[in-house]
Amino acid sequence: MRQVTGLTLALLIVSCAPAPAISTSETQPPRPKAEWTKGGMVAAASPLAVEAGLEILREGGNAIDAAIAVHAVLGLVEPESSGLGGGAFLVYYDRAKDTVTVFDGRETAPASATPELFFKDGKAMDFVTAWQSGRSVGVPGQIALYKSAHDAAGRSDWATLFDPAIRLAEEGFAVSPKLAETLASPRLRGAIRLDENPVTAAYFYPEGEPLPVGFVRKNPDYAATLSAVARNGPAAFYAGPLAAKIIAATQEGPDGGAMTLTDLANYKVAIRAPVCGTLQSGYKICSAPPPSSGGVAQNMIMGLYDYLKPAAQTEADERQYLKAFVDAQRLAYADRDHYVADADHVTVPVAELIDPAYIKARALEAFAPGAKAVPGDPGVVLGKAPMRGMWGEDPTTPGSGTTHISIIDRDGNAVAMTATIEAAFGSSRMAGGFLLNNELTDFSLTPTKNGKPVANAPGPNKRPRSSMSPTLVFDEAGDLFMVTGSPGGNSIIAYVAKTLIGVLEWGKTAQESVALANVIARGNTIGVEVDVPGGAEAAAALRELGYTVEDRTGENSGLHVIVVRDTGLEGGADPRREGVALPIR
Ligand code: GLY
Repeated sequence: MRQVTGLTLALLIVSCAPAPAISTSETQPPRPKAEWTKGGMVAAASPLAVEAGLEILREGGNAIDAAIAVHAVLGLVEPESSGLGGGAFLVYYDRAKDTVTVFDGRETAPASATPELFFKDGKAMDFVTAWQSGRSVGVPGQIALYKSAHDAAGRSDWATLFDPAIRLAEEGFAVSPKLAETLASPRLRGAIRLDENPVTAAYFYPEGEPLPVGFVRKNPDYAATLSAVARNGPAAFYAGPLAAKIIAATQEGPDGGAMTLTDLANYKVAIRAPVCGTLQSGYKICSAPPPSSGGVAQNMIMGLYDYLKPAAQTEADERQYLKAFVDAQRLAYADRDHYVADADHVTVPVAELIDPAYIKARALEAFAPGAKAVPGDPGVVLGKAPMRGMWGEDPTTPGSGTTHISIIDRDGNAVAMTATIEAAFGSSRMAGGFLLNNELTDFSLTPTKNGKPVANAPGPNKRPRSSMSPTLVFDEAGDLFMVTGSPGGNSIIAYVAKTLIGVLEWGKTAQESVALANVIARGNTIGVEVDVPGGAEAAAALRELGYTVEDRTGENSGLHVIVVRDTGLEGGADPRREGVALPIR
């Protein structure tokens, strides 16, 4: 973060607006709007996927249509990150109606799941064993999400949305450097059973060798799956022969899962209100609600930063802006870890956590750089029953097989969708040409801590907590200003917040904000990405301030950002992955 420690930038940061008014749902009435003249843009993790989205937009489709087409291609060409066997949160802005809607296609535990889902021989499995087990597979939500979002707001003919992906699956796609490198990684290969499972071995390791860069990989099974979905909708996935294959792959060893055909048939997308908050600057941030922690965490970080940053009139040491970002993260992560889980199953104090009075009080809970950030108690602060004691300390372990898509269409509607199969290549089980997720390891593998239940413990039909933060930002007038999101396990929260701080507070462009060094402040250690410009300086500045800093390399963000400027749309694509942000030409 070179610019953060450069004095001129910090002096641009001025904020003296009133305290934040934060709401948990979109209540704004539709306003008359000028014609949208800024065109459209697609930002995602593969040029092939972005081109599919642009093709749909050019043919008159809207942001929802394009998101489905983009993601269907990503499931083929970036199979390590997401796909038809996984799930997603899609945040949709309908400009004409002035509404924001969240489609929650999160994977769900089978009806038979218990809090001891990952127990074997009386104790919790280690993470790698759980990750590669059939018990980790949640009922996939991706195809149901496509249909639910398309039914609600799509414009193109459903069947045409899959044409680009079917074409690529039939004709073959060139294996990208990232896919080839991931397959060849000795560390990953040692942990997962992709080349032991005969189906995945044949697909990813033909003749025992990892697919090389540029190899033209055909996937006729994937084409057949999508063709069936194009013809018959989700019924082709959640019932019939494909459903039987999904169940067989889940139930096979090691440690087969208990998902049934009934679990698949019962899968439902949840249509939810976003978690929205308004900052002192007037920007409104809307992101995914529980079971994702994205909306709570992004609003907490930005609200806390408002209070923690140096006052506008002071000529502050610029390191103080970085310190404010780090401390905002530490406080927000501690609360997110403790409180957020599936709110359909446990009490999650969403409104309390982002209540302006709580944010203000929480920001005053000053703590030394070396001290442990502990969860706050919004109940006590807000004069309600104490809340912290409800739950034991959260021991959830994160994974990082995820991708993010940002789209604005030619009418100014927007989609932010983060999609996942959890860890790289999910559970290493394949059916119908796609990988099955290991999303249930996003639950805490141990359901209690020090004798207390953990909020994010497994349970029947429960959805594991997510960090995914598909986020839309609106300006003071209520107009769309920014679309952002990222993969990266629980570091997603830090990655996405970096782009919000970069653009909204530090005056960066979309691309500059994406390129900033990642700084992840969860727990006692601050992870700083030191192999990108500005990272070493940020690490040194934080060490001088007394923080325990871990130098990190090879960070796994995949930020895709669009900012609406007076002059048009400005895109940012993460140089750490292979994506692009392209306008409609
Ligand atoms: N599997 C990553 C997440 O949901 O946060």
